[in-house]
Amino acid sequence: MKAPLHFQDTTDRLVVRSPYTLARGLHCEMPGQQKTNYEIRPGLARDAEDVRLLAKDLTTAFPFNHHAFRRSYSSVLENPSATLLVAGRETRVIGYLLGYGHSTSWAGANVSWVEELFVNGPQRGHGIGRALMSAVESQARNAGGRLVCLITRRATESYRAIGYEELAVYLRKTL
Ligand SMILES: CC(C)(COP(=O)(O)OP(=O)(O)OC[C@H]1O[C@@H](n2cnc3c(N)ncnc32)[C@H](O)[C@@H]1OP(=O)(O)O)[C@@H](O)C(=O)NCCC(=O)NCCS
Repeated sequence: MKAPLHFQDTTDRLVVRSPYTLARGLHCEMPGQQKTNYEIRPGLARDAEDVRLLAKDLTTAFPFNHHAFRRSYSSVLENPSATLLVAGRETRVIGYLLGYGHSTSWAGANVSWVEELFVNGPQRGHGIGRALMSAVESQARNAGGRLVCLITRRATESYRAIGYEELAVYLRKTL
């Protein structure tokens, strides 16, 4: 069982008292549309199909492998170092975040990496990405974490807008 998540988003609109029992969903009014409610909560086995439909559009570097996704999703749910959060509206998932936390000697504390963040196209620009990031930051802070890190190519400006700074160079070797 993962540690309870105590989350208050930066706009004070949402208080999540536990990842399993949300006090209430984040109330978000989208201009020109009906009132929209969603909540940030841990991803569950039943969210797999919704998350898959979002995840398949995240990667541009590698072809999406549906079998690998299903294997990976199951292992994420069982991995105590993994954090899978979803933005849920009614029965549908409209955004998700996958991150991992681990201890480090160089930072002298836990460091969390956000590996995947995706918000469904029509729902972008309404604070859902920010709410997912705030949730993982709160969880990391409560677990004694010092840093939240990520790599991005397409969303640098979005991350800057929520307080992230550019540092270092990302190197990789494709195997
Ligand atoms: C990046 C992404 C997750 C942001 O989600 P979102 O719900 O649209 O973001 P939010 O509405 O919470 O916006 C957060 C901040 O980023 C800013 N922002 C969002 N999109 C932006 C853009 N295209 N350019 C500049 N700033 C942007 C917003 O203005 C907001 O700042 P503000 O509150 O000061 O106005 C979403 O656009 C997405 O899924 N993109 C495709 C996948 C992707 O690139 N993921 C990141 C891979 S690491």
